Amino acid sequence: MSAQAAIDCSVWYQPEIGNRLKPETRFVFPRPGMASRKYPCIGLWMFLLPGIAGFAEFPSVLEVARRPHANILDLGCGLGQDLRLLAAHGVPTERMWALDIEAQLWNLGFELFRDQGRMHAGFIQADFQTTDLCDTSPLGALTGKVDLIMASQFLHLFDWEGQLAASKKIVGLSKPGTMLVGFQQGREQAREYIRPWGMMFYHNRESFLRLWESVQKQTGTRWKIQVAAVPLQDWGMEDEDLTWMPEDRIGMNFLLTREE
Ligand SMILES: C[S@@+](CC[C@H](N)C(=O)[O-])C[C@H]1O[C@@H](n2cnc3c(N)ncnc32)[C@H](O)[C@@H]1O
Repeated sequence: MSAQAAIDCSVWYQPEIGNRLKPETRFVFPRPGMASRKYPCIGLWMFLLPGIAGFAEFPSVLEVARRPHANILDLGCGLGQDLRLLAAHGVPTERMWALDIEAQLWNLGFELFRDQGRMHAGFIQADFQTTDLCDTSPLGALTGKVDLIMASQFLHLFDWEGQLAASKKIVGLSKPGTMLVGFQQGREQAREYIRPWGMMFYHNRESFLRLWESVQKQTGTRWKIQVAAVPLQDWGMEDEDLTWMPEDRIGMNFLLTREE
């Protein structure tokens, strides 16, 4: 047996990053990744968490993503890790779209994932709140045609009215069978917050369902709604990440499927 064959390489493969980011190396990341430090999802390294991959329903998300010719849209894509997650599971990137109001994080995603030339998703730089779905808009070609819409840590950035309008726009992009999946921070006592980018509304389960009751009524569509309030530790957040948040912080995981 050669010396090479005797070596079991698996012993030095650690799939978890854990605490390996030490202060000496951590400073490297702030330079590119933290250039946008406005959002906790970036500043707290939340893009390294499992996200939708941690959902028990993730296999059904993959099923939708793997439909023949499925169109996939990541709203408020940030670095684009959710699209890379699907790509890592073998989903072709040619029918993926990533939308964000800023291009900076999306561009940094190519450095993080080193996949320029392999990630073929179309990037749409647009304000989702003001972009309409008319033929000439950047979303026009996707109206009524998207199979899977991902909205991680995105819709809660807006106030109630903003979320209602954005959710109705999502309905406009959808068709029967479309799945909407994502997660966002919430509060046991649903309420508004002022943040540097504007007024946000943090949901609990009941308020989320109430919002979607209005969406369904106003769009004449029906959706199967799965939404769960979970401790933020379930997302993989560390206790030290949570100290700035009020006691009633929760995570809202949601998966909605359009029935008609
Ligand atoms: C909190 S980050 C979440 C990024 C990513 N989805 C994730 O889970 O890491 C919110 C993203 O939404 C984008 N965004 C904020 N307001 C937006 C708007 N009105 N239209 C489109 N994108 C917006 C931000 O630029 C940012 O990349």
